[in-house]
Amino acid sequence: MALVRRVNNSFGFVLNTFYCKCIVNIKKLKRESNIMRYSNLAGAEILEDYQTFAQMIKFRQTEAKKSVIIKISEVSHIEHLKQFCECYARIVNIFPYNTIDNNRFVLMECSSDKDVEALRKIAVCKASPEYAHCVTPFFLYKPRFKLHINQKTLNKDNYEYYSNFETPNLDEINQSLKKIESVSNQMMFLYNALRITELNIRLRFYTATQISYYLSQLFINLSVVPFGSSVNGFGQIGCDLDLLCKTNISSDDKSGWKKFLFMTQVIPLVDRNEQKHFLDVVGTIMRTCIPGITDVKKILEARVPIIKFRNLYTNMQCDLSSTNMTALHMSELLYLYGQLDRRVKPLVFTIRKWARNMNLTKENPGQWITNFSLTLLILFYLQTKDILPSLTSIKIFSDKSNTIDNFDWFLKWKNTVSSNDESLSKLLCEFFEYYSFFDFKTQGLCLRDGITKVKKDVSPLYIYNPFNPSLNVSKNVTISELLRLVEHFQRAFHIMVYSTEKDTLVKLINFDLNLTINNGFNNKNKSEFINEKFIPNVTDTNNLQKMEKNIIK
Ligand code: CTP
Ligand code: MG
Repeated sequence: MALVRRVNNSFGFVLNTFYCKCIVNIKKLKRESNIMRYSNLAGAEILEDYQTFAQMIKFRQTEAKKSVIIKISEVSHIEHLKQFCECYARIVNIFPYNTIDNNRFVLMECSSDKDVEALRKIAVCKASPEYAHCVTPFFLYKPRFKLHINQKTLNKDNYEYYSNFETPNLDEINQSLKKIESVSNQMMFLYNALRITELNIRLRFYTATQISYYLSQLFINLSVVPFGSSVNGFGQIGCDLDLLCKTNISSDDKSGWKKFLFMTQVIPLVDRNEQKHFLDVVGTIMRTCIPGITDVKKILEARVPIIKFRNLYTNMQCDLSSTNMTALHMSELLYLYGQLDRRVKPLVFTIRKWARNMNLTKENPGQWITNFSLTLLILFYLQTKDILPSLTSIKIFSDKSNTIDNFDWFLKWKNTVSSNDESLSKLLCEFFEYYSFFDFKTQGLCLRDGITKVKKDVSPLYIYNPFNPSLNVSKNVTISELLRLVEHFQRAFHIMVYSTEKDTLVKLINFDLNLTINNGFNNKNKSEFINEKFIPNVTDTNNLQKMEKNIIK
């Protein structure tokens, strides 16, 4: 709570404006390529249908509430299912998909949540007296008689069938990259190939709405909201779904009648022990009552207690935490940065893919850099290039414009700094160069002010938390992982300088650590590249370990 208060006191004003709005009639979200409104040039055209983070979340939540998921056994049943449902509801969109274990589903979007209610009314449950049947938002379409499909009239092309929930295969990516001449276009290709799809976004919000649906039967003011890479614009196919429980302040003041109240049991979610207890209960409910949920693991002793689970029907690996509003504000900040300049996302996607293939980031958290910290490294670098504003600049310029919801403030900021129109390729090369020679020994990255600042302790990598400068976001990174990272920055910089344009990205994301490259970087000349003076030494790390022990004590 103290953290949230601190956020509110400082830059919360920026973010709160997003939350305090009542959004009506939000236009249908266009494909992401259409809503990227800024070119790299100052004064670029602003499209009218820009959505703030809060609007986007609200839009997707509304979309999820008017959608249903129906299991089918045959693709050929889709047309009949549609005809059947249209007798009771107005259908707007149909997305058929296969799950990893090869079950077939249809995500059906209706025109309103009343249509969903109408479908719920006609659905039946073959309840047996020996079992307690849980309530469910999922349906099963099971035609009673064998359907005689007229193959001539059945047009399977009506429906795009989605099944790829897996990251595209590296060979396929390589083949496609080899056909593209320029590095910048190769980076655009990677971005388009790796980003989460429209269906995947819908399934993420549906999964959150599904958990909300169950919890709302028990808690009056609780909703489940996605955060992290699922919503901040940097999510790649297959990324986990981070969820948090958001408590809402009751707003319905029923004509001032306050004498007749609900008598509720309250759980103080600011207390860590109560949080753990709450998640423990929620985990048990999920394991027992929610269809399609499997592999529930309660990780309650972690710094942030979470429940891990898998939703088989939506193909999602999820982490549910209790109230964690700072993380939601952070997602909002990243979302904003991703929207400000069209080069941000392709750059982040390329570097994330490179880091994953070099084994610098891993699926599980540990002593290595996380995707989140890596993204902050990139955003900071773009601040130094005057492509993105610091948080302080956002505050100053949005104060002057009285709002952050349109981009007038950003144009004003752009006009005060020199306009940077470097290509994606140049930015990528200079990113690797920048961190190859960065003074990690003494300097930390401060995105709040957009400048480097002396580190506050001897953590090898120091990224000041933008909302709480007394915290280091990358505290987990050890000296050996930082060394590995810097070594790879240098190798990557070398590849960028010495490769032909057509080969560059393929070489970057496929670099075999056991091989040396012609005319290039190998272990022999490594010491020439690594400037020891910028790397924290082992004594520092020993001190850090001692410090950590003291804190634990
Ligand atoms: N977060 C944070 N402070 C941290 C770590 C995480 O505020 N020290 C928040 C960020 O909003 C982050 C989110 O928690 O985006 C989820 O963290 P994580 O799953 O580790 O990162 P993602 O951005 O979701 O990236 P990935 O695709 O690897 O899951
Ligand atoms: Mg995540």
